[in-house]
Amino acid sequence: MSQPSIGFIGAGKIVDILLGALGPTLRGRSLNIWNRTPARAQAMAKLHGLKVCESIAELAESSDWLFIAVKPHAVAKVMAEACLHVRESSLIVSMSAGISIASIQSHFTVAPRVMRIMPNLPLSVGMGMTALCPSPETPEADTKALLELFSAVGKARLIEERLFDTVTALSGSGPAFAFLFIESMADGAVLNGMDRAAAYEFAAQTVMGAARIILDAGKHPGELKDIVASPAGTTMAGIHSLERKAFRAIVMDAIDAAARRSRELNA
Ligand SMILES: NC(=O)c1ccc[n+]([C@@H]2O[C@H](COP(=O)([O-])OP(=O)(O)OC[C@H]3O[C@@H](n4cnc5c(N)ncnc54)[C@H](OP(=O)(O)O)[C@@H]3O)[C@@H](O)[C@H]2O)c1
Repeated sequence: MSQPSIGFIGAGKIVDILLGALGPTLRGRSLNIWNRTPARAQAMAKLHGLKVCESIAELAESSDWLFIAVKPHAVAKVMAEACLHVRESSLIVSMSAGISIASIQSHFTVAPRVMRIMPNLPLSVGMGMTALCPSPETPEADTKALLELFSAVGKARLIEERLFDTVTALSGSGPAFAFLFIESMADGAVLNGMDRAAAYEFAAQTVMGAARIILDAGKHPGELKDIVASPAGTTMAGIHSLERKAFRAIVMDAIDAAARRSRELNA
């Protein structure tokens, strides 16, 4: 298939991250953008080499892949306009948290091709985790091409739509939870006399290394924990403290709360 032209509705953080990461892969393609606040679209166009469209209509008419990247509450508003101009052969790629394929398709009389995706911030360093779910109308070739595109900046997997609120919480919101954990570990080290810059480096490298072992060795996290936690040692003392304060339940609750919020956004 020839390289699809790409249009973005929205010029927020995630589009900036995507374009920054995928820049080399997207070179040579027709890239267009529209944003409610034109200055933001213009700044992004200058940075990443896109053309700014004057209207959603102009953008939709010129896009083989139309990315929806506005806040969830704004999706219905932009789709009400886009639905009049999306070509039958075009694919709508929605990345707005909580917005279902059915809700995108409800703006049309004939169901359009829709790919729901959930990328995440680490794709900016080539370590993204992107979930994708095609509507039944989506051609295999588009699904394959999008999987390849997001695999260039990390991992990309097809996920059933019923799990999208879960991946939104796990991999979409997850980086923020990991940042909080790393900051807290570093704070503990600062409390014990380490300088802050060194503490962030040690904490971040430790979390990245631990994640790498799980992905590469394919071992159960509990088995790996047991290797580090020697009898009456320092690690076991720390684990005891975390368990007394219900660390696991707190983290499970955070994922559950984020998934619940994602479900609410589509209500
Ligand atoms: N950030 C992430 O890591 C991430 C990851 C995966 C998915 N997402 C999803 O991507 C979407 C954008 O997130 P973001 O982080 O890029 O947010 P952001 O930086 O706050 O950008 C929000 C975008 O939505 C537009 N918008 C807001 N209200 C609007 C309205 N009433 N009408 C038209 N446009 C409106 C904004 O336009 P203005 O410039 O005019 O305000 C801007 O383009 C969200 O749905 C989010 O769930 C984000």
